[in-house]
Amino acid sequence: MVDFSGQRPTTGFHAPTRFEADIYDCEVVGQIPTDLNGGFFRLHLDAFYPSKYADDAILAYDGYVTSFRFSKGVVDYKGRYVRTQRFMKQLEARKQLYGYYRNPYTDDPSVSDPANPHLRTTANTTPVVHHGKLFATKEDGLPHVMDHNTLKTVGPTDFGGTWNSQTFTAHPKIDPVSGEMVAIGYEASGLASKDVLMGTFDKTGKLTQEVRFDVPYVSMLHDMCVTQKHVVIPGGGAIADIETLKAGKSHWGWDASLPSYYGIIPRDGEAKDMRWFKGPERALVHTVNAVTEGDKVIMEAPVVEGNPWPWFHDIHGAPFKPLDYTIRRFTFDLNSKDDGYTEEILFKTPVTSFTRIDDRFMTLPYRYTYVQYSDPERPFDAALAGPFGGRTANSYGRFDIRTGETLSYCAGQSHAVQEPTFVPRPGSSEEGDGWILGIAHNHVERRSELIILDAQRMEEVARVVLPFRCSGQVHGVWAGEGDLAFDDPTQLALAN
Ligand SMILES: [Fe+2]
Repeated sequence: MVDFSGQRPTTGFHAPTRFEADIYDCEVVGQIPTDLNGGFFRLHLDAFYPSKYADDAILAYDGYVTSFRFSKGVVDYKGRYVRTQRFMKQLEARKQLYGYYRNPYTDDPSVSDPANPHLRTTANTTPVVHHGKLFATKEDGLPHVMDHNTLKTVGPTDFGGTWNSQTFTAHPKIDPVSGEMVAIGYEASGLASKDVLMGTFDKTGKLTQEVRFDVPYVSMLHDMCVTQKHVVIPGGGAIADIETLKAGKSHWGWDASLPSYYGIIPRDGEAKDMRWFKGPERALVHTVNAVTEGDKVIMEAPVVEGNPWPWFHDIHGAPFKPLDYTIRRFTFDLNSKDDGYTEEILFKTPVTSFTRIDDRFMTLPYRYTYVQYSDPERPFDAALAGPFGGRTANSYGRFDIRTGETLSYCAGQSHAVQEPTFVPRPGSSEEGDGWILGIAHNHVERRSELIILDAQRMEEVARVVLPFRCSGQVHGVWAGEGDLAFDDPTQLALAN
């Protein structure tokens, strides 16, 4: 018997859906651009069985992958659970077997394996496309290769035995110039270990460089930045240690007394070349982009000055309070004699942690970041929004980091939007020339709608309307027809 009562959340658009779906020829309002061809992939949090502990992080929910396959003006939809080892063991047992987020000491004895915590990953965070493959990633385990046409799970990969870490980041960065993918794995040799593996894969997926180093203290390293010359690894605030895990607590606590830290290392550097900059309490869950200019590394990111996680408790007992993210610029001087840096707020407008760019400008000088936020002039209908009230993001914005100008699109006062993804217009190399894709949850009709915007005007060109609501998305990725070998979608549907 499955009983989600007492779980968080049981209602609203972050509640699990527990079904898989195919929709051939989706309902569309407006005109899908005929030159928008490829696949929009998303990873969701969708628990098939209720959490063992009602106060556990929804970050532990099962991974669920969806695709919108665009072809010549029509769209097909597909949604499947990622069949991780953990998911399959649960199906077999017909119950939840796994305990707190990233704590195998709280698992059912039939599956508990603290020496191999990566085997309990749910692969639920970021779909990544590189060297012709689609991966479902999560920072606590290895990526899972997915069949991008059928969304069947192929299985976890250590890249042919070359990736020497139990874990692999959900935010590897792809250099648009070289086609290389730079990644890290933290807690690389096991639970609460201080070691991090950083590696570079060439455009064929071959690991060409690796370096291993220790962090100042074990912390969540959720995202990273790559420039043409350096890698930036932000961390701090969140802490983990083996004794707390053995005591049966969730993986992370928050310690406001510890400094935030930012590791900067040349892309071809060795462990001795790592430089740690330190500052006050901060959380950079995600980054926007970074560049190297002379002897300076300049990074932009949405930032909060405290614990952003309602599930991870303050070790000093401070109650959780929601904080606003603002987009800030960090400047690190590689010639400085101390470990300080400068920090400035670029936009005072509060945003969420989910910001994206035109990925063709990753590692390079760039201008626009696309944000998901609550436009102060058109707030979400607070009566519909549950715990986040009028702060629920219902708008997409194009923020110009050079001029400070913003362009805003509101999906509706009853539409909660999720992360925007930029899609370049074929044949154009101009930054920002293309479309924005993003899911909006329609709280009145109780269904999900994929919004397609002209990214230069931030105006809607079409909406794909699903006849149900999706579970909460984490991240998404666009793959054009040159990135993945797509089957003909009509023939694919007829064959299944
Ligand atoms: Fe993320």
